[in-house]
Amino acid sequence: MIFSSPDPASDPYFAVALLRLQKTSYAQEAELVGDDRIPPLQEDEVELTAWRGRWLTAWEGVDLVGAIAWWEADDRVEIEKVMVSPTVMRRGIASALLGQVVDRASGREILVATGRANTPAVALYAKHGFRVEGDEEVPPGIWITRLRYSPVE
Ligand SMILES: CC(C)(COP(=O)(O)OP(=O)(O)OC[C@H]1O[C@@H](n2cnc3c(N)ncnc32)[C@H](O)[C@@H]1OP(=O)(O)O)[C@@H](O)C(=O)NCCC(=O)NCCS
Repeated sequence: MIFSSPDPASDPYFAVALLRLQKTSYAQEAELVGDDRIPPLQEDEVELTAWRGRWLTAWEGVDLVGAIAWWEADDRVEIEKVMVSPTVMRRGIASALLGQVVDRASGREILVATGRANTPAVALYAKHGFRVEGDEEVPPGIWITRLRYSPVE
């Protein structure tokens, strides 16, 4: 497994591959929550590349198999997306990506939200020490669960 931090805004070929991974991966969350209005499935290449957070990607050879996106503030890190190719799920790729972001947070708290019915994602975050903060209905009909990782607890 090779990790890299490319910028989709500076490489249109990578942006296309990343958007393809995002659509195939988040189709699983849409299935679990029973709604395909979730934001990662609505995004197009322009929106994907306009987002100015950070990316870390996982590769098997030339195949893009996983990615995590996050942004950083002085006091916290917010995870925007975590995605793994359905063909290689449950092999520790999301854990490896998440672990690297936890390391880079360097003691700051980490916030994330995921579909309440997305049991794989909720279990992933719980396994890495995130605690459930609560549920919220945004937009109407779609329930998300907010989680927080507090390293000083
Ligand atoms: C959630 C997701 C990122 C997990 O990726 P992954 O590489 O398969 O996860 P890992 O192999 O690192 O699994 C780590 C832990 O997550 C949990 N987990 C992962 N997949 C699971 C599943 N299908 N069912 C239950 N728990 C699961 C388990 O606790 C697992 O640990 P274990 O294998 O020791 O039991 C992946 O399923 C995915 O891309 N889903 C679609 C996109 C999405 O929902 N992203 C998260 C929303 S922000």
